[in-house]
Amino acid sequence: MKVLLVAGARPNFMKVAPLIPALIANGHKPYLVHTGQHYDDLMSAAFFKDLGIPEPDAHLGVGSGSHAEQLSRIMSGVEPQIANQKPDWVVVVGDVNSTLGAALVAARLRPKIGCRIAHVEAGLRSGDWRMPEEINRVLTDRIADLLLTPSHDADENLLREGIAPEKIVSVGNIMIDSLFSQLENARRLDVAKTRKLQKRSYMVVTLHRPTNVDDPEMFATILSGLQLVAEKMPVIFPMHPRSRQRVADAKLDELLNGVIVMDPLPYVEMLSLVDSAGVVLTDSGGLQEETTVLGVPCITLREQTERPITITNGTNRLIDWPPSAEGIRRTVNDAMASRRASAGVPEGWDGNTAERIVAALEKASSASA
Ligand code: UD1
Repeated sequence: MKVLLVAGARPNFMKVAPLIPALIANGHKPYLVHTGQHYDDLMSAAFFKDLGIPEPDAHLGVGSGSHAEQLSRIMSGVEPQIANQKPDWVVVVGDVNSTLGAALVAARLRPKIGCRIAHVEAGLRSGDWRMPEEINRVLTDRIADLLLTPSHDADENLLREGIAPEKIVSVGNIMIDSLFSQLENARRLDVAKTRKLQKRSYMVVTLHRPTNVDDPEMFATILSGLQLVAEKMPVIFPMHPRSRQRVADAKLDELLNGVIVMDPLPYVEMLSLVDSAGVVLTDSGGLQEETTVLGVPCITLREQTERPITITNGTNRLIDWPPSAEGIRRTVNDAMASRRASAGVPEGWDGNTAERIVAALEKASSASA
């Protein structure tokens, strides 16, 4: 099989990394397209290096812009790639603009060149249509031929939406393949020690969702909460470029006094820091999943999560909404006090998802042959 994989933004890279060697090991031909939605070294190249991802076969350099500008550049860049390569499969991962842009192009080329679309991480739903990711996920799932889900709640969401059961394959969580492949390296690196942090007694924060950082009042409330926590323990905040921009725009710098702010961290360094943390406060989907597997308490700074299994089976909890500075401090204290190992890692979050994805692609190909 010739398999064209599309990646564009930071959380995509750990999802394609395990697929490339698994495809090659099974005699298939991967072709990697990097849309360039993320382009800073720390948002892109550092992940390729840490995760051993080969140079992309094509780099589209789409960069930032308004939603329409970015999506249209992704689509016009991906179109000739699919048209020329004529792959058997176009594999898209996650829920970013590059995921939807590539899936739309593939769907239009599908009747002409006979390619099919597989969506890795299908079926997650927040129910919140204000999130660009929710739109991206639902539309991608609607036009995909093969929906590869990370957990059974995702299967149920798809069935409820009327997706044919034979299109859905529960494969587990591909992020966890990357996590297990790098955990030993992360532990050897021991970032907590190098940064003179005591294990289990610091908090790691990541924030970048538009709902949290684009509204200056909301962002100020959250930063005030971080300051309260920072009175008691180190708060480490590797800051996404979008959030850094919003701090500057809304002149919120003073609210970061006492917080240890740094650039986004490469994959292995971040994994190391999170693995030894006392608690993680985040609005990222990936971190909710990683903390579940690592057994680190996680607080999600969102009204809801499309990953409820990290709450029922993992270490995650939602903040009381809307957040207040005092609420953040209280929830952090509660999470630290009730520290527990993961209630059980969800089925298929075992490091072998890439193999199951390749098997699902092979099976779907032979069924249609
Ligand atoms: C995107 C994804 C989001 C994902 C996040 C992870 C969409 C709709 N959103 O959000 O789901 O959780 O990536 O990081 O696809 N920027 C840089 N350098 C970069 C990339 C971005 O400075 O390498 C800045 C630019 O100012 C840009 C802004 O960040 O305008 C936002 O980037 P964009 O890719 O539009 O969305 P993210 O917020 O990164």
